Amino acid sequence: MIYLTRRETFNAAHRLFRPEYTDEKNFEIFGKCSNPNWHGHNYTLYVTVKGELNPQTGMVINLKMLSRIIKEKIIEKVDHKNLNTEVDFMQGKMASTEMICIAIWDELERPIREMGAQLHCIRVEETENNFVEFFG
Ligand code: NI
Repeated sequence: MIYLTRRETFNAAHRLFRPEYTDEKNFEIFGKCSNPNWHGHNYTLYVTVKGELNPQTGMVINLKMLSRIIKEKIIEKVDHKNLNTEVDFMQGKMASTEMICIAIWDELERPIREMGAQLHCIRVEETENNFVEFFG
């Protein structure tokens, strides 16, 4: 079994809040990410796949196709967008790094399986100091 990771970056806006809470209570729980007028992060996404080497190609997955799928299914939908309001796969979800990570897993798991590999890990870095990993 061999593992391969593709890195991508995107910029997106979000807000962490519950609409039934006051701005003060949202700030208490979510901190600066609850800013009522939105704010953005420079996110880094790592998609790790695993599988057996294809003896003909010496590769675990076609990297060009993997990169294209990540761009199509994720990056084009989130880059320079508002995660709360503009991204189909985030509708009705809290725009936390955890939820983003799980939602990206759900979008990529099947297409990667159809390419003959297995999704192993989605890692989303929101800042230099905060990141989330999801293994399904
Ligand atoms: Ni934030």
